[in-house]
Amino acid sequence: MLQEKLTQPENKPDVEEIAVEGFDHIEFYVGNALQASYYYGRGFGFDLIAYRGLETGNRDQVSYVMKQDHVNIVLTGSLRADGAVAEHVKQHGDGVKTIALKVRDARLAYDMALQRGAKKVGEFENYEGPDGVFRAGAVATYGETVHKFIERRDFKGAFAPGFNAVQSSKSKPIGLAALDHVVGNVEKDKMKGWVEFYEKVFGFRVYQYFDAQDISTQYSALTSYVMANKSGNVKLPINEPAVGFRKSQIQEYLDYYIGPGVQHIAIATRDIIPVVAELQNRGVEFLTVPRSYYEDLPKRVGQIDEDIEKLARLGILVDRESEGYLLQIFTKPVQDRPTLFFEIIQRKGAKGFGKGNFKALFESIEREQARRGNL
Ligand code: FE2
Repeated sequence: MLQEKLTQPENKPDVEEIAVEGFDHIEFYVGNALQASYYYGRGFGFDLIAYRGLETGNRDQVSYVMKQDHVNIVLTGSLRADGAVAEHVKQHGDGVKTIALKVRDARLAYDMALQRGAKKVGEFENYEGPDGVFRAGAVATYGETVHKFIERRDFKGAFAPGFNAVQSSKSKPIGLAALDHVVGNVEKDKMKGWVEFYEKVFGFRVYQYFDAQDISTQYSALTSYVMANKSGNVKLPINEPAVGFRKSQIQEYLDYYIGPGVQHIAIATRDIIPVVAELQNRGVEFLTVPRSYYEDLPKRVGQIDEDIEKLARLGILVDRESEGYLLQIFTKPVQDRPTLFFEIIQRKGAKGFGKGNFKALFESIEREQARRGNL
């Protein structure tokens, strides 16, 4: 059994944490928000709950807000040839713009971040009206990605001020329950700087880390630090490429996203087998591992509740840690460029990230890289 490295308390000045209560939502900038909403609706079971666009008086952008259990995603497209969304999509393709974090006091969180050197993005939003209170302020993180602090005090409106509620629910939830972690890729030798950013600006701590020895196949060497808030319900791993024999999967991402950005979004479920079966029925495509993975599995993970044959048929991976185990599976990239993908994860006591699966997983990614001519 592989053991994650837990962090040693170092002699760092204690930085008061910005009190982040959890993930609020993820906003994507995409080339066609209407069609993306169909993909996340019919594919992943998200329900359209709110809309903003020409009909609501927004002349520049159109946004679809989709929800499933505790997971909220916003799909935003441009109505113009220029402007922030169009420029972002031109540069990066479809991708994550905003990792929004729930806070009790957005003004306080925002001011603390700015005082500690974060760069502001846009203007602070302060809505107090018939729908209650909504406050939000955004700061820059790696690449063109931003964190937005969101405060909804008894906010009764649809998602955010300016959005209209949408009633026609066309999608049934399929069991995706909550955001588990959101991973960023940054350039070689930049990871430590971003670790410090989360320590000094957010007061987050290093939850776990993985070095090139932990995570290396013949090609895909990378290093990863997992930053987290105190309660551990917001986990933000950061990867950088390490020197391998050929092109790291992280470098392939950086080349196609044209800079740092969100690599994958992990969504937790309470019952992974029917969820993955349903996603596959709906046409969501996943990475596969060779049959031999499942032959070795009982020896590696010991007794588990699930039927290994069922896991093998669906391609679900298992990893054991001291406190329990986890089940996980990864989609193929969900847009034209080989950039963002999703992870579906069920935790049964395990708090890590499936380190025992890194080798099988990365070999699977490399087979896809080779098919793309990028290895
Ligand atoms: Fe992950």
